[in-house]
Amino acid sequence: MAPGAPEVDRAPRLVRDRPALAAVRAALPGPVGLVPTMGALHAGHRALIERARRECASVVVSIFVNPTQFGPGEDYERYPRALDADLRVCEASGVDVVFAPDAATIYPAGFSTSVDPGPLGTVLEGAARPGHFRGVATVVTILFGLVRPDRAYFGQKDGQQAVVVDRVVRDLGLPVDLVVVPTVRDADGLALSSRNAYLGEDERRAAPVLHRALQAAAGDHARGERDAARLRARMQAVLAAEPLARPDYVSVADGLTLEELDVVSGPALLSLAVRFPSARLIDCWPLA
Ligand code: PAF
Repeated sequence: MAPGAPEVDRAPRLVRDRPALAAVRAALPGPVGLVPTMGALHAGHRALIERARRECASVVVSIFVNPTQFGPGEDYERYPRALDADLRVCEASGVDVVFAPDAATIYPAGFSTSVDPGPLGTVLEGAARPGHFRGVATVVTILFGLVRPDRAYFGQKDGQQAVVVDRVVRDLGLPVDLVVVPTVRDADGLALSSRNAYLGEDERRAAPVLHRALQAAAGDHARGERDAARLRARMQAVLAAEPLARPDYVSVADGLTLEELDVVSGPALLSLAVRFPSARLIDCWPLA
């Protein structure tokens, strides 16, 4: 479909293996936009798809719960899987192709390559989840190789992931433009995430504390606060007022290197990870 053309509901092509994808991809008019997902699609994913739909002649959505980005004891097994519902979302959003491989398609027998994003992958989420970003960088590189998109769409909510993938693309000279799309939030500020489904009622009521903490620090920054320790303390204080929230980290880091800052003097990223009894949630806020 040409950019700007009216959307009509029609079923996307569902492809599950590499040869079928190659055949379908060869016939797609460009530019081709890829929205990589792990499924359980929500309004945050829809915002990525809609942006791709506006900017690209063809839109491919990949749906793959990538085992290599989950650590031992994490939620790989219980991560929500909802292919039929996801296909309906893709149909209603005018997606052309859904690539939903199984693990053996992405990691065939003998697979032995991985993409290690270096120091960017060992801080923040990477420190809390060792190997996570190697898994992300590897699967995204495979998807880029198979789909050969002109543009790929990622959510700002996973801010470190966007920084890591941008580094990989630049370091490896991958021919794809990354587009980072603003976070979609519920009315109470909670960033949409497939993991919100794990929250019990009380936890769901408590979860907007992540957004309130970010907003408080972003507000202080807007009023001129540049001391990163005070911005971190501000986020900690907001989180401390919520008994169900157990902070994993709060961070004020350089927006490109993700190194923790003493003073905010340029683009930076406020980010935090918080454990609730049933789920661990992350959120972030870019500072210009
Ligand atoms: O953000 C996600 O859903 C995943 O990390 C991604 C980019 C699809 C890679 O598995």
